[in-house]
Amino acid sequence: MSEQLVLSEKRGKVGLLTLNRPKALNALNNEIMQALSDALLAFEQDEGIHVIVLTGSGDKAFAAGADIKAMQSWSYMDVYKSDYIGGFWETMKTSIRKPVIAAVNGFALGGGCELAMMCDMIIASESAKFGQPEIKLGTIPGLGGTQRLTRAIGKAKAMDLVLTGRFMDAAEAESSGLVARVLPVENFVDEVVKIAEGMAAFSSPVLMMAKQCVNAALETTLEQGLQYERRVFHATFALEDQKEGMAAFVEKRAPNFKNM
Ligand code: CAA
Repeated sequence: MSEQLVLSEKRGKVGLLTLNRPKALNALNNEIMQALSDALLAFEQDEGIHVIVLTGSGDKAFAAGADIKAMQSWSYMDVYKSDYIGGFWETMKTSIRKPVIAAVNGFALGGGCELAMMCDMIIASESAKFGQPEIKLGTIPGLGGTQRLTRAIGKAKAMDLVLTGRFMDAAEAESSGLVARVLPVENFVDEVVKIAEGMAAFSSPVLMMAKQCVNAALETTLEQGLQYERRVFHATFALEDQKEGMAAFVEKRAPNFKNM
């Protein structure tokens, strides 16, 4: 039986996905991206899941990039037709409304760093290393590495990483703004799941709305983004969960969100 490329596990309201090609440092190919897409969509459709965590198997890598061995002999038409991670982004953007946390536990290089940046939030272990080393292979980042990285960490650092191919450690990634938090290596994934569980206790539709609004900040002008946020803020007042959340505060008790 062939090995499962993406492991899928439910931990309460958290869906944990693990890229599972440890011998190839979880290098990304068509098959693993398809499996990841399917697994994400399954959690998206599962009402019991509020937050998704994505990590890499083994303790060495989140993902060491697109699969160089698979790509090395590709022609222009092969790479054009494949476009596997580009197609994956369409799924992430349009179909995955629940928050996705990348738990980066080692190398996140090339397409691996780009995959982490497609997630809503990156939490890194102290051993994480980020980079866009495509320049060393005679190519450039093709899945957002020149665009999302520049928006996340600014031109100076993005130029440095993309033009020299050097890796950035977790501390530098955090101080640069790429990473939300850095956690110890020990029990790393369990600790990220704990953070996700904290989020998952909130109202699921409100989590989705909040994520959508933050993402809108990167796609619109400030004025459009503020308008959009205001409309969504107003919309939360149509939810039972807003009534429950504010009543619980006033009555000094824990809220019991119904996700509606
Ligand atoms: N593709 C395919 N296989 C890979 C891989 C990749 N991106 N990264 C690592 N592997 C494989 C290695 O070939 C090796 O396999 P074998 O044992 O069969 O030889 C195995 O994983 C372990 O790797 P190393 O022996 O190289 O491990 P290391 O500890 O010495 O080095 C590393 C680790 C620094 C991450 C090194 O593996 C490396 O530099 N990997 C490539 C990183 C890279 O260039 N990524 C960008 C890819 S291109 C891309 O992603 C384009 C894009 O934008 C879409």
